[in-house]
Amino acid sequence: MKKILVTGGLGYIGSHTVVALQEAGFEVVIVDNLSNSSINVLEGITNITSTSPIFERLDLRVKQDVVDFFKRHTDIEGIIHFAASKAVGESVEKPLLYYENNLNTLIYLLQECMAHSIHNFIFSSSCTVYGEPDKLPITENAAVKEAISPYGNTKQISEEIILDTCQVSEIKSIALRYFNPIGAHHSAEIGELPVGVPQNLVPFITQTAAGLRDTLSIFGNDYPTPDGSCIRDYIHVMDLAHAHVVALQRLLSVKNTANYEIFNVGTGRGSSVLEVVNAFEKVTGEKLNYKIVDRRPGDVVSVYADTTKANTTLGWKAERSMEEALASAWKWEQKIRNL
Ligand code: NAD
Ligand code: UD1
Repeated sequence: MKKILVTGGLGYIGSHTVVALQEAGFEVVIVDNLSNSSINVLEGITNITSTSPIFERLDLRVKQDVVDFFKRHTDIEGIIHFAASKAVGESVEKPLLYYENNLNTLIYLLQECMAHSIHNFIFSSSCTVYGEPDKLPITENAAVKEAISPYGNTKQISEEIILDTCQVSEIKSIALRYFNPIGAHHSAEIGELPVGVPQNLVPFITQTAAGLRDTLSIFGNDYPTPDGSCIRDYIHVMDLAHAHVVALQRLLSVKNTANYEIFNVGTGRGSSVLEVVNAFEKVTGEKLNYKIVDRRPGDVVSVYADTTKANTTLGWKAERSMEEALASAWKWEQKIRNL
């Protein structure tokens, strides 16, 4: 069994990817400092896969701890690097926290990859690097726009750090640019656990339906879109998880055509906020209390992926519907709230 390090593996996307990796026959070591996750996630992963991943609680910002980790684990063949801080608003308030956490951890990991000849590195990037796109759907060749937040900037800089490193080392890397991940594992053993008031649409919807929030605010209905609300590409988190397995297998079997490759990971379909709200009501039978409010500063109008490259080159395609994702998100919310 090939041993894979998953940083941030107790987080939202990481935990679902650990499930997919274990189901594909990989041995997983998770490193997480629990800054945005719970130790209980380990139990959820174990319940689904009947296998407990190895877990080490470790802060990747502490360089010596990272060095020591790789002395203990000499047989790691690949790394999937999820660990990062991800709240856009918070990154504006605390830029140095974001630059330190998202860049230092990446640098320390890449240094250890070079020191221990670990040649396979998957990175969590984001469609946020495209900003407001000039053309839809967005291909990987679209220009990277000036970042609107320190968080977005860390993703752009991270991609550059990885590219530069791949050019002077044997490291091969794939950056996956995620669109909007939503939903949970169908078992409701794991799911998204936002801290405090959710900033993202779907957790806000499920918390409103669960009665934790009074009203969902829809940020604007005067955008130049068919119903006036913003459009995004919502991808089921398990489809996203599988994209990591496929990307890793591509690197491990040396099918990559360049040392650094980028893939959009989305469905290719754009859905408006109002469409998401209507789909949620239909699929769950719950009535959502919502109101239209002002636009949220920094929101782009419309973003969805051209997935041709992922479909043809990676051989990966999103298979689950938005309705399935919303149903799984609701099942998870009901479970954690004992509804
Ligand atoms: P998450 O916060 O749920 O998971 C990140 C995990 O990393 C958490 O468990 C956290 O405790 C851990 N972590 C953070 N800093 C760490 C450190 N210094 N040392 C060890 N562990 C640390 O986030 P997520 O939604 O699963 O996102 C995973 C990755 O995907 C992030 O890099 C994020 O920027 C990126 N991404 C997420 C989205 C999204 O919508 N969720 C979209 C695009 C890109
Ligand atoms: C946001 C981040 C992006 C990050 C992504 C995933 C910004 C500007 N962008 O993307 O960098 O990669 O999260 O973490 O923050 N909406 C409402 N009401 C709500 C919440 C959201 O109407 O209560 C709308 C938003 O205006 C948007 C859509 O729902 O049109 C999706 O919002 P959200 O889930 O926050 O994701 P993004 O803004 O696409």
